[in-house]
Amino acid sequence: MSTRSPDDPTAVLVLGIETSCDETAAAVVDGHGRVRSSVVATQHELHAEYGGVVPEIASRAHLEHLLPVLRRAVDQAGVAMSDLDAIAVGHRPGLIGALLVGTSAAKGLALALEIPLIGVDHVHAHLVAGLLDAPPVAFPSLGLVVSGGHSSLYLVPDPISPILLGRTIDDAIGEAFDKVAAMLDLGHPGGPEVERLAANGDADAFDFPVANLGKDRLDFSFSGLKTAVLYAAKGQPGRTPPILDERRRADLAASFQSATIKAVRRNLRRAFEQHPEVRGLLVGGGVSANQAVRHMLETESAARKIELRLPPLEFCVDNGAMIAGLGARRLAAGESDGLDLAPAATSRSAVQPG
Ligand code: KG4
Ligand code: ZN
Repeated sequence: MSTRSPDDPTAVLVLGIETSCDETAAAVVDGHGRVRSSVVATQHELHAEYGGVVPEIASRAHLEHLLPVLRRAVDQAGVAMSDLDAIAVGHRPGLIGALLVGTSAAKGLALALEIPLIGVDHVHAHLVAGLLDAPPVAFPSLGLVVSGGHSSLYLVPDPISPILLGRTIDDAIGEAFDKVAAMLDLGHPGGPEVERLAANGDADAFDFPVANLGKDRLDFSFSGLKTAVLYAAKGQPGRTPPILDERRRADLAASFQSATIKAVRRNLRRAFEQHPEVRGLLVGGGVSANQAVRHMLETESAARKIELRLPPLEFCVDNGAMIAGLGARRLAAGESDGLDLAPAATSRSAVQPG
């Protein structure tokens, strides 16, 4: 029999389920944001030969992996299913078939265990990844998500209600890394491969464009940069292509990576100027695993005496702990969802007017 007090946040246990893209993940997190377990089954090898995530293959793989992953997450936390207080699930945004698998499993568990079901926005969950197993941060903070599907800046008065300040108008930053990786004949996912190659290159070899969408705007655009890299790698249409030797490939990777960092840095500086009240910076998403990106974020935060919460590498990429972490915060705020919770392919973020 459980001896846990419902008033003690360390006693509150939330199971988080993540199936939005190509990782099947589950984790148990307590009411203080302490990670009791985190299990991730990646599908990268299944999608590698296609150079990108194939939705049908992803859904099928989630169906195969999810229940064993859930079982391992609960076992590794040293608890029983009956000890769980809530089931959190990333129900948007993402691949709809993939989201259906996680959402359906979450509903079944919540129903069987007679505990609350909590739908969590995957992108908002990336923002709390840096608060797991970490000291609290002062709010309002700024939030930055740099992932395969998103490049977004938020004002975060509270992690459960971030306000969107800017986002990409075309490609996400991680998507640009993946596409540049394909141009340079690197594997998938491309971000870590581009980073490895960039380490041997000259970031000043190519002067790639950093899109500026207006002096006060906090939106991003990476498609012009991607096209510039394509022409530098493969040549302008109708012209003789350049020789893409090791040196050129490394210089392209380094110059591209540097241009993406300049784009993020510029918008981050603008956001800090527009919101002098912020004291913290929450960062998440796969691209925040990049060491050059992390270095820039550390430098920018230190210069402004901003408290940076940069997740460890395992919580930068998709994981269940961030879902459980945000779920625990919604639960503490008295929020939960009905069993009619529906997955959605897109995010529904509050956009600041004006
Ligand atoms: O957050 P995530 O796991 O999934 C989404 O929600 O999209 O991010 C995956 C993205 C991919 O585009 C991947 O290439 C990129 O993050 N990524 C990186 C690095 N590690 C992963 N990009 C640059 N450098 C890295 N080290
Ligand atoms: Zn993600």
